[in-house]
Amino acid sequence: MKVGGQHYHTIWLNEDGRSVDIIDQRWLPHEFRVVTLKTVDDFARAIREMWVRGAPLIGVTAAYGVAIAMTEDPSDAGLDQTWDVLHETRPTAINLRWALDDMRTLLRSMPEAQRAEAAYKRAAAIAEEDVELNRSIGRNGLEIIREIAKRKKPGERVNILTHCNAGWLATVDYGTATAPIYLATEEGIPIHVYVDETRPRNQGAQLTAWELDGHGVPHTLIVDNAGGHLMQHGDVDMVIVGTDRTTANGDVCNKIGTYLKALAAKDNNVPFYVALPSPTIDWTVKDGVKEIPIEERSGDEVTFVQGRGMDGAIMTVRLSPEGSPAANPAFDVTPARLITGLITERGVSEATPEALRTMFPERALP
Ligand code: MRU
Repeated sequence: MKVGGQHYHTIWLNEDGRSVDIIDQRWLPHEFRVVTLKTVDDFARAIREMWVRGAPLIGVTAAYGVAIAMTEDPSDAGLDQTWDVLHETRPTAINLRWALDDMRTLLRSMPEAQRAEAAYKRAAAIAEEDVELNRSIGRNGLEIIREIAKRKKPGERVNILTHCNAGWLATVDYGTATAPIYLATEEGIPIHVYVDETRPRNQGAQLTAWELDGHGVPHTLIVDNAGGHLMQHGDVDMVIVGTDRTTANGDVCNKIGTYLKALAAKDNNVPFYVALPSPTIDWTVKDGVKEIPIEERSGDEVTFVQGRGMDGAIMTVRLSPEGSPAANPAFDVTPARLITGLITERGVSEATPEALRTMFPERALP
């Protein structure tokens, strides 16, 4: 998508054919910074400390991390070690394991001398595939938005609520939850997005709002607790969120707070959609609440908040008493029964094991 008139992906290979540049998302919306990753440790740090984040982008970053490792040690032992180092960075987003497994399976099947070149090619292909997956998700989600728009009076806007950032910053380009929004806006459907701020790291306030602002999509930032109230008053036509891991049964793990939005949506008959590429489906897991590991991040993310001061400097300030400990589970699971549909690259699936198996017969486990 565009930043200052220039087209950007969130990650790209440099001209040296080895190092990789990323948008360092920790500084948005205040500063647009690009950093270069040169070693496996750089890649691991960028994922762990959320310089890059969002399930699809974490996967692509890990794939390039494997590629750089192959330039140093293309042995099986080197490959396994890199898999371990990158895999332990963030436990919830399944795209990480999907990309690492994909790379390892491919590379193991070839001589060591060919691995580095093949790894860069495959990482680039995974990145390109992500862009295509998101375009398809966009087209499939657009059809839902069109149907809602048809029921509106002329000129009346379609109000969409989203949580966290499942936008282009969370992917290589376009985003999952935002792809249908961008396409609908291009088509001239009057869209308005309610953006949950998404405490504690504020991906909604800092990233989604920045994206929508940059692309001229009308939006309003709300605190995380406002969604239920807006739904009760008929101000939300649909919810679209992303996901870090969706189970074979259709349970959706996503940013903490998603579950509460789904409960409020159910109570108010507001359709609740989840946009996802198929690498986000974990076919080995059925019960999301019991089986998905939920990342527990530092309590400092709750007790401190980052922003830009009146003097223009980016600063971190304490919110709560020094003696108050904080818990910080980063994700929750929305049970399939609360979900209206899963917007995938192949179409919109019901959140049931049968529907998912029918849509992806070659991926589903017996
Ligand atoms: O902790 P984050 O910022 O990586 O969490 C991101 C989300 O929860 C997104 O909704 C999810 O990864 C889907 S991104 C297309």
